[in-house]
Amino acid sequence: MNNFELYNPVNYIFGKGQTEKLATLVPKEAKVLLAYGGGSIFKNGVHEAITSALKGYDITEFGGIEPNPRFETLMKAVQIIREQKIDFILAVGGGSVIDGVKFISAAVNFEGDAADILKKRILFTDVSKVIPFGTVLTLPATGSEMNSGAVVTIEATQEKLTLGGSALFPKFSIVDPTVITSLPKRQLQNGVVDAFTHVMEQYLTFPHDALLQDRFAESILKTLIEVGPSVVENPSDYKLASNFVWSATMALNGLIQKGVPSDWATHMIGHELTALYEIDHARTLAIIGPNLYKVMFETKKDKLAQYGERVWNITGNSIEEKAEKAIEKTVEFFHTMGMKTKISENAENIEKTADFIVNRFEERGWKALGEKQNVTIEKVREIVEMSY
Ligand code: NZQ
Ligand code: ZN
Repeated sequence: MNNFELYNPVNYIFGKGQTEKLATLVPKEAKVLLAYGGGSIFKNGVHEAITSALKGYDITEFGGIEPNPRFETLMKAVQIIREQKIDFILAVGGGSVIDGVKFISAAVNFEGDAADILKKRILFTDVSKVIPFGTVLTLPATGSEMNSGAVVTIEATQEKLTLGGSALFPKFSIVDPTVITSLPKRQLQNGVVDAFTHVMEQYLTFPHDALLQDRFAESILKTLIEVGPSVVENPSDYKLASNFVWSATMALNGLIQKGVPSDWATHMIGHELTALYEIDHARTLAIIGPNLYKVMFETKKDKLAQYGERVWNITGNSIEEKAEKAIEKTVEFFHTMGMKTKISENAENIEKTADFIVNRFEERGWKALGEKQNVTIEKVREIVEMSY
């Protein structure tokens, strides 16, 4: 097992009705920015629950953070915080709002061009330099409620880039599984597939000595397979909802990646498809993941076979046979979850996709992705072309 440090300071508050605790979590004297997205929180009662829990607080509202949050929009909130000397942010929404707030938190006191936070991947480790924030999660998928990473799109250049650092963990996250009842089916499907792929990125590499982490990862995958298809049909079933939501957090709160190699190439390629065609994040992963497993088969086949045996109860005469069946099962599962696993089923005029992505990766010097740094530019081209 590799050496590791496990640091996660998020006060994670899970369950029905937990929003009531907000007043015990948001500092009383704070000037608060309440940040949200396109307005779903007004339709499902979340806004009302929050504002009544925070009665008497000095609150400024900032709405309009879009899915795949835009740098340009977030800078408007940065401006408001600077002008009004706001000192706490409450993010209410899915991964996009929470990620957007992480960027806002980092950018307020950043000296220089805030786009460099993304372009130069600046790491934020000093909590005194960022604005503290808490979250109320409304969409289980990204794990953003319990991690310190974020993804932000620069509209002007169509770039989807990451930021993060230990100073960007939420102070607290309120996670009430009943909020998923208002989610459109498409977003529920996305949530299951995003969480599933987060586990795969940290698990589906090569055999190693971290036995417990493998079992953690497999149990999250099995739980998502068990509850995923039915939670989409019946999100008001609390047993299904609570297990789905907790699995999505556990998939990307740092625990399962400790002491193990990880991949993340599916996400890196997938982000480009969202930047180019605005395909939902999870749907890009369902397109790219299985093709990446095929192209990187020699590197991944041993772990694919283990995954097939332990997660899907696959049997076979050879590692290769089990590994191939495991990829097929994964694609089938994604189809069951409503994913269309070709780029052409999700976007139009896609002929130049591979050229575009390959050029981007070359410009950024991303020539060696994956757990063995062997997802080369040529492999990226092959994976993308296989996904047309
Ligand atoms: O904006 P509103 O009106 O709130 O509507 C949202 C949005 O349209 C809606 N929604 C959210 N909660 C709802 C709801 N509608 C009804 N009822 C509710 N309870 O759902 C739509 C999608 O929301 P969004 O936040 O964009 O979805 P998601 O949580 O999937 O986040 C996706 C973003 O997170 C990034 C992705 O790249 C993408 O930008 N990721 C962040 C990660 C992280 N921070 O660790 C890791 C992930 O791999 C991912 O890259
Ligand atoms: Zn993801």
